[in-house]
Amino acid sequence: MDVINPMYRLPPEKLPKTYLNLAVHLGYQLPLISPMTLKPATPEEALMIFPAGVVQQEMNFKDKEIPIEDELRAAYYYAQRPTPLHRALRLEKALGVDSDKIKIFYKNESVSPTGSHKTNTALAQVYYAKKQGIKAIATETGAGQWGSALAYACALFGIECRVYMVRASYRQKPYRGILMRTYGAKVVESPSNITDIGKKFLEKDANHPGSLGIAISEAVEDVIKHNDTTRYSLGSVINAVLLHQTIVGQEAKMQMEMAKEYPDVVIGCHGGGSNFFGASSAFLVDKIEGKKNPTIIAAEAAAAPKLTRGVYAFDYGDSGHMAPIAKMYTVGSDFVPAPVHAGGLRYHGAAMLVSLALNKKLISAVAFKQTDIIKAGILFAKSEGFIPAPESCHAILEAINQAKAAKDKKEKKVIFFNCSGHGYFDMAAYGDFLDGKLLDYELSDKSIKESIAKLPKIEGFQ
Ligand SMILES: Cc1ncc(COP(=O)(O)O)c(C=O)c1O
Repeated sequence: MDVINPMYRLPPEKLPKTYLNLAVHLGYQLPLISPMTLKPATPEEALMIFPAGVVQQEMNFKDKEIPIEDELRAAYYYAQRPTPLHRALRLEKALGVDSDKIKIFYKNESVSPTGSHKTNTALAQVYYAKKQGIKAIATETGAGQWGSALAYACALFGIECRVYMVRASYRQKPYRGILMRTYGAKVVESPSNITDIGKKFLEKDANHPGSLGIAISEAVEDVIKHNDTTRYSLGSVINAVLLHQTIVGQEAKMQMEMAKEYPDVVIGCHGGGSNFFGASSAFLVDKIEGKKNPTIIAAEAAAAPKLTRGVYAFDYGDSGHMAPIAKMYTVGSDFVPAPVHAGGLRYHGAAMLVSLALNKKLISAVAFKQTDIIKAGILFAKSEGFIPAPESCHAILEAINQAKAAKDKKEKKVIFFNCSGHGYFDMAAYGDFLDGKLLDYELSDKSIKESIAKLPKIEGFQ
């Protein structure tokens, strides 16, 4: 091997002891709105859906840091944290950039037992549920990474797990379903015929490809019907999930210090926003406090372009209108994204905190088509040695674009991105590309406008 990548590893005691509560840093104060009353959700309503520990964190608007219990830190250690930071010297070489001037670093969340950053919040949510005596958790999953992480966490803590998996992903990635079932989870295709919401969508279209919005509605209906034993876990979007992911950004900042660098550009792929926000969290705090001024970029799928083509408004978190309403960048909760392989990015809205940061112009966003991102993933695989998830390929493509632009302008640039997961269950995406069969989908302004026209009107908070 002519080039060997340097790697930066933190010792176990450096595993963060607190989460960063960016809601406080950003001055976030808007309430979640109940879909039943269209008024601010009461704590009682939230407690019906989520474990109490999660509700407390979701509604904490005063502490800048929230302690992580030792038992939970031990679980993170067990799940391979702290994860490594790599200097992508081999990718730099493949791009033909001068490595003294342009430096690419990436954090590798793919080393978690189920292959992505999702274990960071799965372990926390299941830990709080277990402490409360909850017996079962219901959830949705898109790409399957979240469902896998939750199934793993439930197996570790001894809780039952029920997963509604978006049909398009279920069929593209049958082995994700098998992985979850191996951990003991019950997995159904969404829309399913075991919930009222699922049946409604199946009546309209027996082969409905599903969406995260619909799968969320099914999981919430399950929780409401089994409220004595079951609570809901969400893999992204809400403040508490973003909070859990801040351990990634905190580790990354320490590791960049080990490398004696600070990123000019911070990049993460964006589905609901937890990966992007968690990975950029510690850098965003520096930016808000005026200590540094990194450019922070969310890379989304062109098939679900809420940050680049959506509106900033109150919207439902799900298509069946059972989950809370919040202010977010959205293309409308009725919007059904094309069945791209990056299933984890097929969500109509962005997290409230990401949306606020975008509205305050602290961050920016780009959107990519699937043939372009898979091309970037193949270059990454050949140079860095492992296959990235299609979702993560969005961040890789933006890192490549940033490096090329800096090279053209003869600028110095330190680029950091988070590789949120591996793609070993996503080989169909790579196979389709290699066989020349991978499709791109055009999305008209008209179809976005139509779904945005149906946004709810919330009095008093617009
Ligand atoms: C590998 C991977 N990266 C990123 C995402 C998007 O995550 P988020 O909702 O946190 O933006 C997902 C979602 O499933 C994923 O599986």
